Amino acid sequence: MEVRPAAPADVPAVVPMVAKICAFHEAWDPAKYSFLPGTPERYRHWLTTRAGDERSVFLVADANPKLVGFLIGTVENEIPIYRLKQYGFIHDLWVDEDYRHEGVGRQLVMMAVERFKAMGMEQVRLDTAFPNDVARKLFASCGFRPSTTEMLLQLTV
Ligand SMILES: CC(C)(COP(=O)(O)OP(=O)(O)OC[C@H]1O[C@@H](n2cnc3c(N)ncnc32)[C@H](O)[C@@H]1OP(=O)(O)O)[C@@H](O)C(=O)NCCC(=O)NCCS
Repeated sequence: MEVRPAAPADVPAVVPMVAKICAFHEAWDPAKYSFLPGTPERYRHWLTTRAGDERSVFLVADANPKLVGFLIGTVENEIPIYRLKQYGFIHDLWVDEDYRHEGVGRQLVMMAVERFKAMGMEQVRLDTAFPNDVARKLFASCGFRPSTTEMLLQLTV
């Protein structure tokens, strides 16, 4: 198992994992995670660009010959009322079911943290779905702490 930066050629193998992570979140909270049809395909172009972007962190877990996990993060700008101007943000993390509990997720997260640090970022942030205790436990073991808790009120049926 090798955790390494993704290349554009990896994107076709990552898109099905994007579909799985969308379905995973939508099953938990279809109001919050109400994806447009074709969202994984929309990722295709975005991920291909991210693979060559020095302000992005796009990593894959390679169990040669197949990919079994990925992480995508980008540098985000804070709004101009805060002292901190930019921070690293982890958008998605996925490890295929058959490869879980082997430390792959942890390797992806720790490499992403190192790469954001090398870019000069002072913070790395991410969101987790409220029921996702497994992900929070993993991130906590990598040094993350809880920050805000988003609340949601649905006004339509
Ligand atoms: C969250 C997720 C990425 C974790 O991936 P993973 O590869 O299983 O993560 P790790 O193996 O690094 O750590 C998970 C657990 O395995 C344990 N572990 C790590 N190496 C191990 C080993 N060699 N043997 C046994 N257990 C091990 C870790 O201690 C951890 O256990 P714990 O949860 O009881 O503390 C994966 O469950 C996933 O893809 N979930 C669905 C998508 C998701 O939730 N993404 C995050 C969105 S914010």
